[in-house]
Formats: sequence, C-alpha cells, structure tokens
Amino acid sequence: MKFKPPIKGPIFIGRSWQEYIKMFDLDIPNLKKKKILDCAAGASSFTCYMNKKGYDVTACDLLYYQSPSFLQEKCQEHLQILIDSLRHIQNNFEWNFFKDLNDLHEHRKKSCQQFGRDYAENKGKNYIKADLNHLPFPDNAFDLVLCAHLLFIYDHRLSWEFHQRAVEEMIRVSSSEVRIYPLVKTKGQKSVFVDKIIQQLDNNITAQIVEVDYQFRKGGHEMLLLTKND
Ligand SMILES: C[S@@+](CC[C@H](N)C(=O)[O-])C[C@H]1O[C@@H](n2cnc3c(N)ncnc32)[C@H](O)[C@@H]1O
Repeated sequence: MKFKPPIKGPIFIGRSWQEYIKMFDLDIPNLKKKKILDCAAGASSFTCYMNKKGYDVTACDLLYYQSPSFLQEKCQEHLQILIDSLRHIQNNFEWNFFKDLNDLHEHRKKSCQQFGRDYAENKGKNYIKADLNHLPFPDNAFDLVLCAHLLFIYDHRLSWEFHQRAVEEMIRVSSSEVRIYPLVKTKGQKSVFVDKIIQQLDNNITAQIVEVDYQFRKGGHEMLLLTKND
C-alpha cells in the first residue's frame, strides 16, 4: 500500500541547534559579531541556543504571529505525525545522526520545547513573523541568512515563482552569504529547482554546492552556498 503523508505542505517542527551546525557546516566561533537570520525557522532550537551563547540570531517564520501555546501544540502534533509517517518509510533515511525513531522523537521534542520557552520570552524580538515572499528587513541587514527544509523539498507544492522570490529576498537581506539545505526530496532525488536557481542568479552571486557532515534523508549531504561578491 502506498503511504500518503497526512499533512499537506510545510509542517511546523524544528531541527535542533546540533543539526543546524552540521547541516549548514557552521564554524561557530567565527560567527561572533555576525548577524544571522534563520528563515522559515519553525520550532528549531538554533536561535534560542545561539542567543543564549551571546550570538546574534533572528528567526522568522510565517507562523510567528501565533501564541506560544498554539505553536507548542502544533509542533508536538506535527512531530507525532512525522514520527508515525516515518515508520512506513524508514529505509529512505540514513540512521547515523539518530539511532532510531525514538531517538529522533526525543531529540526533536527537546528542540521544540527549547524553542517554545524562548518564543514565549522573545516573540516579536528574536522571533519575527515574516513571509519569504517579502522579508520585513532592509537590504544587507544580515551577514548570513539560513533556510532549511522549506525550499527544494516541497518543489511539487511550492511553485517555481515562490522559490525564485524567496531566494531573491534572502540574497537582498544578506550582505554576504545565503545557505540553503537540503537540496533533495524525501527519496533522495535532487529538486528540479536547484540548477534552475543557480542558472538565473545575478553575476555578482557565486553559487557552490558544498558537502556537509550531516545526512538524514538519503542524498541530503549537500547545501547550496550563495556568496555575494562586491
Ligand atoms: C519544515 S519547517 C522547517 C523548520 C526549520 N527550518 C527546520 O529546518 O527544522 C518549515 C517552516 O516553513 C514555514 N513557512 C512556510 N511557508 C513560509 C513562507 N512563505 N514564509 C516563511 N515561512 C514559511 C512554516 O511555518 C514552517 O515553520
């Protein structure tokens, strides 16, 4: 029987700060004094962790107008749905970072709880409601802009125009770099939009596909690094 995921479109969950560091190949000490934006940050614990360590990270997401209790409930609910769905397709994933489904569940639950506490304290300050179609930040406002698990993985539901616009917006608000992860869909096939995005970049942007030390979905060991040249 073919398994059909019960949620249509982006789900509200979040990877942990440990996953972010690996997914984006971040050299943490080098990020001191840099302004970082995490786009479509969901319930990730990255912003919470980094700001507590003295770094300067802003998270934005379409759902950050919602109350802390609503988002906490949504995250736990979507996490459970994700775990139930993965039971049917475990072979599509690499079990290195996580030992098994329980480990994954516990790890992401912790991330969701850390996010929830921080969101309740810093909503509107470190957590800004934003649509990637029109980011509410000035040009060059951040040194590094991150985007995980929204672009490319939903290329069957999110249009080419949305991908184009979102990348344009992230480049606009970054003075230096944009990093996007992953480049593959659930079964490990590269999104049709990756090459298309690279081909239509302005001349002042350099694109590199960089290998990273993280892989959960098969083939998910690469990120797209966009660098703005002066
Ligand atoms: C699967 S989560 C990814 C969360 C986190 N970046 C991670 O890697 O774990 C996708 C997020 O994208 C957000 N989202 C969907 N469409 C968006 C848009 N147009 N602008 C900003 N955020 C959006 C959703 O609310 C959700 O939190």
